[in-house]
Amino acid sequence: MREFILFARKALTKPFDLNDLVNANRMDLVARTISNALFYSHGIRKDTIIYASLNGPPRPPVFVKFDGSKIYGLLHDEKSIAKIINECLRKAKSEKEIEVTNGVFVSRLSFEEFIKSNYKEKVIYYLHENGEDIRKIEISDNNLFILGDHIGLPKKLEKFLIRLGAKKVSLGPISYLSSQCVTIVHNELDRRKIYSD
Ligand SMILES: C[S@@+](CC[C@H](N)C(=O)[O-])C[C@H]1O[C@@H](n2cnc3c(N)ncnc32)[C@H](O)[C@@H]1O
Repeated sequence: MREFILFARKALTKPFDLNDLVNANRMDLVARTISNALFYSHGIRKDTIIYASLNGPPRPPVFVKFDGSKIYGLLHDEKSIAKIINECLRKAKSEKEIEVTNGVFVSRLSFEEFIKSNYKEKVIYYLHENGEDIRKIEISDNNLFILGDHIGLPKKLEKFLIRLGAKKVSLGPISYLSSQCVTIVHNELDRRKIYSD
């Protein structure tokens, strides 16, 4: 599998106006990153899961999961994805994961709890401008890529990830948009033919 987590520091955790995603504390960025992680020109990447950890007001955290192997009928435009996130926000009740629609799940799991229950089984790559060049490292089939939003990860979480053995990885010499980062990672894995179905 290819797995990504977007840590969205301020993204709203209550339903928002679908016509104003930017003012929902950058839900446009969240939706665009999810779209870029899941879609390619011929459809959905079935070997990809993207999670978004939403940590803005009024009641964080909310954890959404889009599983490419189970999704069907989803459109790749931001508004369609945001509409499903809205549905998730209405249904987020507890740490227990529930399926909101085909292949889309929600819970109130925190980013830290998710990492703690996954870091032993997966190789964690923390995407950061000052990391090691992705072209010079091996990438496991069992990967989990972590990225921040326009603000980036809090220092506390960076330290937490490094303590658990995450590798800090750079995608290139400049700072890219979160949505561009997932495309660059996919491209790198496509070139190396790292797929699993
Ligand atoms: C727009 S950047 C965030 C910039 C923010 N000002 C900061 O200091 O983190 C969004 C996220 O994309 C990832 N990112 C951006 N450029 C990158 C690069 N060259 N290499 C690796 N990750 C990158 C990082 O995870 C970052 O948190």
